[in-house]
Amino acid sequence: MFEGRTLGYGLARSLFVFPFLALALLLIVLSGAHRSLSLDLLLSSYAVPSEAVTNSSCSAGSSTAEPPKDELLGGLMSVAFDGASCLSRHQSAWYRRKPSNHTPSPYLIRRLRRYEALHKKCGPNTKLYRKAVEQLVSGTSTAAAECNYVVWVPSDGLGNRIISIASAFLYALLNDKVLLLHRTDDMGDLFCEPFPETSWVLPSDFPVRYSWVLEKDHGYGNLLKNKLLSSDMDTANASLPAFLYLHLVHSNDEFDKMFYCEEGQQLLRKFSWLLLRSNQYFAPAFFLVPEFETELSLLFPEKTAVFHHLGTYLFHPSNTVWGYITRYYEAYLANAKSRLGIQIRLFRRAHFDSHSDYIIDCALTKRLLPNVNLTDTALPTITGAKPRSVLVTSLRSGYFEKLRSMYYEHATTTGEVISVHQPSHEEEQHSEKLNHNMKAFAEIYLLSLSDALITSPFSTFGYVAQGLGGLRPWLLVRPDDHDLCLHSTSMEPCFHFPPSYDCKARKKVDIGSVAPYLRHCEDFPHGVRLFD
Ligand SMILES: *[C@@H]1O[C@H](CO)[C@@H](O)[C@H](O)[C@H]1NC(C)=O
Ligand SMILES: *[C@@H]1O[C@H](CO)[C@@H](O)[C@H](O)[C@H]1NC(C)=O
Repeated sequence: MFEGRTLGYGLARSLFVFPFLALALLLIVLSGAHRSLSLDLLLSSYAVPSEAVTNSSCSAGSSTAEPPKDELLGGLMSVAFDGASCLSRHQSAWYRRKPSNHTPSPYLIRRLRRYEALHKKCGPNTKLYRKAVEQLVSGTSTAAAECNYVVWVPSDGLGNRIISIASAFLYALLNDKVLLLHRTDDMGDLFCEPFPETSWVLPSDFPVRYSWVLEKDHGYGNLLKNKLLSSDMDTANASLPAFLYLHLVHSNDEFDKMFYCEEGQQLLRKFSWLLLRSNQYFAPAFFLVPEFETELSLLFPEKTAVFHHLGTYLFHPSNTVWGYITRYYEAYLANAKSRLGIQIRLFRRAHFDSHSDYIIDCALTKRLLPNVNLTDTALPTITGAKPRSVLVTSLRSGYFEKLRSMYYEHATTTGEVISVHQPSHEEEQHSEKLNHNMKAFAEIYLLSLSDALITSPFSTFGYVAQGLGGLRPWLLVRPDDHDLCLHSTSMEPCFHFPPSYDCKARKKVDIGSVAPYLRHCEDFPHGVRLFD
């Protein structure tokens, strides 16, 4: 949605002024968003010793001088995994910047272990799973079932999928439900299994398939609207559907959004099977449900680290993707003194020259990169020093080429050398292709290994990178007429289309002003984001 220097921010501001025009524009933006997932720009700067990486944890008696890395990521990771099935699970700690100042709470760690036990007990191919499926087919599911499930159904590009899976997992965690993914072919070999000795992939013989017709008979919002379901319903003898479909994509209506109300949450607990389809980071909405308040504050004392912890816990690159990441990293980034990631995502046609100047101006004024001297050809270059590297991710190659030429043709005023890299430029987004998604995930992950990030507004690709990396990005939005880009105050993804309904007061509210830790997103003021 960022066009040239000002349109992105201007559009965002206009949301408050011209809601209808803005809505129309948003729909245009969104339809574009499906088509082109951004592969972006990555620069990074802390040098992980590459010898340490190859020695890694496998060689116990490694004589490296590096302090031992925290392979279990502060206890987030279960010890119950073996190594070879998923190399990234153990090796990722070696690539992360250190030390992480976002420690998972002991309570979160306990709850994850409890969740893992539940998932193992109820997961695919267990007796309890088969029983639950039989009950689903025969329409005899009961709320008292031992195992209750939420089935996530994909919508949109990889970034959208990752943030919505994380949200669905939080929903499952809060409600003691088991999360299963309807994994389409284009997601086949992206992630390792996150839970030990079981699988989060929905078995292919699961009897229900998502299609839009589900909405009529099983859509939660639709049933509420037609008064076939109500929160004060005596479910004991009412004839309820065997499962419900939750429509949590950006375009859902006020009835679908009753999901975010406490009474809605309680009603949903009466169903053993829920299908959930979303392209949103809807986790922030649970912070508005009073009954989750205590639980969430124990799980996440640091509210801006919700996605950071859930994301690093859930999304481990498969061995294939990990191969892309480690080969690229070792070849181009490991030797750098520092790494800057630049993620460029254009949702509409932007004027290339002004937009690339704008990005470079942001990097220079925020001192993320040194300036060049355009006239003095005798400026010395520091010899023997490590370069600073820039990783650019973008669907196109123009930005990368412009930046690389700038540092090739001119010396920096500091004498430093800048190496500029872009892993791929696919020109168009192809979320339906597995190979495209594997490369996209590799690039998101490489961006997350940066020391600093510049990201495009509204991009879920950037959100995932900043969240995994634990980084507050520099956002390519103009905060005011004087400043170029904005240092985000949160590393959380933005919930672009949150509810606008106060469940208690039963009226519309500005959702960005009802809780101190929920504010409008700097890059998309219609949305909300968690803050500390
Ligand atoms: C449900 O049960 C109550 C009494 O327990 C009864 O009055 C009511 O008619 C029943 N409703 C249906 C739909 O069977
Ligand atoms: C470039 O170098 C020349 C000669 O050293 C100097 O006079 C000029 O101020 C420099 N310009 C910038 C932008 O640093």
